[in-house]
Order: sequence, then structure tokens, then C-alpha cells
Amino acid sequence: MVTRTVDLRSDTVTKPSESMRVAMAKAEVDDDVLGHDPTAFRLETEMARITGKEAALFVPSGTMGNLISVLVHCDVRGSEVILGDNSHIHIYENGGISTIGGVHPRTVKNNKDGTMDIDLIEAAIRDPRMAICYPITRLICLENTHANTGGRCLPVEYIDKVGELAKKHGLKLHIDGARIFNASVALGVPVHRLVQAADSVSVCLSKGLGAPVGTAIVGSKDFIARAKRLRKTLGGGMRQVGVLCAAALVALKENVGKLDGDHKKAKTLAEGLSKIKGLKADVTSVETNIVYFDILEGANITTQKLRKNLEEHGILVMPESSTRVRLVVHYQISASDVQYTLSCIQQAVTGVPAENGGTKIFQQAVTEVPAENGGNVACDMLGLNLIDLTVPVSDYYSIVPFFLGLFVVSCTT
Ligand SMILES: Cc1ncc(COP(=O)(O)O)c(C=O)c1O
Repeated sequence: MVTRTVDLRSDTVTKPSESMRVAMAKAEVDDDVLGHDPTAFRLETEMARITGKEAALFVPSGTMGNLISVLVHCDVRGSEVILGDNSHIHIYENGGISTIGGVHPRTVKNNKDGTMDIDLIEAAIRDPRMAICYPITRLICLENTHANTGGRCLPVEYIDKVGELAKKHGLKLHIDGARIFNASVALGVPVHRLVQAADSVSVCLSKGLGAPVGTAIVGSKDFIARAKRLRKTLGGGMRQVGVLCAAALVALKENVGKLDGDHKKAKTLAEGLSKIKGLKADVTSVETNIVYFDILEGANITTQKLRKNLEEHGILVMPESSTRVRLVVHYQISASDVQYTLSCIQQAVTGVPAENGGTKIFQQAVTEVPAENGGNVACDMLGLNLIDLTVPVSDYYSIVPFFLGLFVVSCTT
């Protein structure tokens, strides 16, 4: 029986930590729709400070944060927004900007690094002299990090240039910053500088930061006042919402500092995958916490088969297509989870256990206390496939001699 779970489907899957649960239980709350929830006020003030904007608003999701932002900037039906053809807003948000806001999307090709060529953006801006035929361009949207290209970071110089272009044409700039903290950490640029050129940003608190729910949108006081009305229109006014904001405040305090470790683990994962015969993973493109890999033609496994096989070992992944799989690292994934995953994938794809894989996992399971898993370690000796056992952390040392003995025997037989 496998008791270990390694959930790599997304960074949205984290469970609230103990300190978040305590903060939620103790949160001071009031009616936020009436504007009186003190914990929501604290979170919004903090998010405005971090992003260098005048004001912030807590909303239930990244999707609603983007929708509200686009709708505030494009408050005339039939307005046009320029956005990436591979952007989250365009692909994964139910076309809400069109169905709800009457906003027309004009897509520009996303490059492999998540950028759109600036001359292509400029060429996509409608000539207002032809407004008799054309929709009126009012907004440009960027995404940082860019999820579908593997969590790539848009550099600040690029964002500044797009901001200048927007200004030159009288347009607004919105950044889908669901993972802006990941970008900030990877680039070594503070969040407020990274989004300086933007008129609005939506920042997810429930992705890499690990809060259970919520996104903050930030911008000018006027933008946020209008956003607040739209949030109510969309049914996103939440009464004693301080319960959720309290967890988000803990996430900000405790988890930003863990993002660098997540990025390193993602890199290790990509490096390991790139060495497995039958797989292709581009290590250099892994800049933050998202890793894509491809199953090469001729490999004897499909992504669905691999997903199922891994699930049997407690590893959850998200196939992107029939040949592509996405893995997302978050702070509840430990270094030994990464090694365990690599061993399982190697075994599933090649049928051959990782060289020394079992030893490595065994050593790590014994020496490393995994984060946030209730203090249990499932010692799935994958490479050797000998033992399946759940051991409370407090029992580590009493079982070490037994395991070492077993290991020596297995190596000599
Ligand atoms: C880049 C990006 N933007 C927006 C969202 C939407 O966030 P939510 O799932 O909270 O609606 C996601 C979700 O994964 C995302 O990856």
C-alpha cells in the first residue's frame, strides 16, 4: 500500500498549513461587503504596499481578478484587448471577457519565453480613425510568469517597453500576475518594480504562495473603487472574508521565502527528466516552478498510461496532451519527493529502476523530515521495490538499523 502523496498537478493544490488554520480560526472579521472587515483591510493594504499601487481588492479567484480588471479598463462594450494567443485569460477563462464583458480579444503570438514581439503588439493596435469599422483598442494584457510556456519570467525591461507603448497609444496595461512573486524571486527584482508600468495587476495568493483561496487585484484608487462595484455585480462580494484573508497574510509572511527552493527543486526535476531515455525536457527553460516534459516517439508509453502508473505510486501529474506532461512544484513538495518522482517516472518509462534510485530515496526518507505531510514518511523503496511501509517521524531512528541491515542483504543477494 502506497501512503505517500506527491501532488504535482499544480501549485493550487497546497493544503492550508497549521499556522494558516490557526490564523483563520482567530481572524478578526466583519462584513466586507459593507467595507468593515479589518483582516481584509490589512491584507489589501499589504498587497498595495508590496506592489507599489494605491489600493488593492481581495477577490475569490485569479479568473475573477482578470475579468474584473479587463472589464474596468474596457467599460465600453465592443472594446478590444490585445493579449497573448497562449495566455491564461485567452485560453482558460471561459472567454469571460467576451461573454460577460462584451470585450473583443485580439491575440498576438506568444513567443517561447512568454513575451509577444513589441512590433506585433503595436501592429495589432487599431487605428482609431477607422473606428467606423474597427473595435477600439483599450488594453494590453501580459502574463508573468507565463504559465503555458513553462513559468517563464517576463523581464522588467520588456514590461517597461510594453508600458511605454501602451502610454504612447493611450492604452492601459494589465498584468496577469498569478505568479508574479515567482517572477520577482527568479529575476531578483522586487514586485513593485516589476509591475511599475502596469495600471492593474492580479496577484494570486493561492498558487505558489499556498493560501487556500484568493487573489488580490491592485491599481489606482479609482480603478479599485470601480473594481469593487464589479466584484459585487459578479457575486464576488464575500461577507466575513477575513477568514480567508488571514490565511493569505500568513502565506505572504511565511511562503515567499520558499519560492526560491521551489524553483531549485523544479530545476532538479527537469535535469533528472532530461536524463531519462525516451523523454525530452528543456532544462534551460525552467526558470520558476513549472516543468514540462515530452514523451518521445518510440517510447513505449502514453501520457495517460504514465499518469495512471504514477497515480498508483501516489504521484499526481497533469498530462497536457498525448505527448506532453506538466509538473508544478510548490512548497509542499520536498527534495525527496522530487527524487521519488524521478525514480517512478524512470521505472514507468524505461522499465528500469533508477541507478541507485532506491538507495537515494531511502537515505533521504531517513534523513529528511518532509514538510506538511503529517510527519509520516512512506518509504516506498522504488528502485528496489522491496518495502512499503509508513513510519512516523519519531520512529525513524529505531528503524534505521533494521533498514540498513535489509539494504545490505538486498545488495549482496
Ligand atoms: C497564469 C494564470 N492566471 C490566472 C489563473 C486563474 O486563477 P484561478 O484558478 O484562481 O481562477 C491561473 C490558474 O491557474 C493561472 O495559471
